[in-house]
Amino acid sequence: MFGPLVAAGLEGVDPDSGPIVDLGAGTGRGVLAVAAALPTADIIAVEPSAAMRAVLMARVGSDERLRQRVTVVGGDLDAVRTPEPFAAVLAMNMIGHLDRTARKVFWTSLARRLAPGGPLVVNLQPPSEAVEVMETPASAVVVGRRRYLGSGRAAPTAADQVTWHMTYRTVEDGVTVAEERVSYSWWVLSEAGLRDELSVAGLHAEHLGPPEAGVYIGRRPAGR
Ligand SMILES: C[S@@+](CC[C@H](N)C(=O)[O-])C[C@H]1O[C@@H](n2cnc3c(N)ncnc32)[C@H](O)[C@@H]1O
Repeated sequence: MFGPLVAAGLEGVDPDSGPIVDLGAGTGRGVLAVAAALPTADIIAVEPSAAMRAVLMARVGSDERLRQRVTVVGGDLDAVRTPEPFAAVLAMNMIGHLDRTARKVFWTSLARRLAPGGPLVVNLQPPSEAVEVMETPASAVVVGRRRYLGSGRAAPTAADQVTWHMTYRTVEDGVTVAEERVSYSWWVLSEAGLRDELSVAGLHAEHLGPPEAGVYIGRRPAGR
């Protein structure tokens, strides 16, 4: 779902008109999706976490074609030095890291740097309100003899904020050999809230893919 949605969001983008910027690139899932959809695009992958960036760099560095066209930037949007307008922007699974004030600055700056007609592909992750979420499996992958299992629960901590409590387990032969717990704050946003905030920044949002996917494409309306 992720790759096809990103490809759909980039439809019509001219890769020669400017870089495609992946904000909160994580370990590079979006970078791979952009590279597959636009094989000649100049990609800027922005990621503030050093741990995530290490994986991202390993992924980019081990592939000759990615190495030639992906620039990895530590930090946030402000750290992107390129002066030319962005042909497109991805902000996937990251907007909940920003509170209302930070989002206002983020949308305004983004709208200013996005080329006319260039898409912003952004998604909202549930919950859309500050409510409790019971422990839910989040990921499961087998690597060699080991299974890596992730799960998470959320607890409301403010009117527009939850804290996610994640548990990551490593299992071999049915025995848990490692377990790590991580908690982080996440600011919730509804679809109506997103539309309002984008519209204040001069961007009009539409669904990308089925509404239940929670993915949106934001653009400056023609003539603005
Ligand atoms: C859940 S990951 C999403 C990774 C990737 N976009 C994906 O969908 O697979 C969210 C990422 O956003 C990053 N992040 C947090 N605050 C950010 C900010 N202000 N600007 C850009 N990225 C940020 C985090 O470090 C994290 O790696």
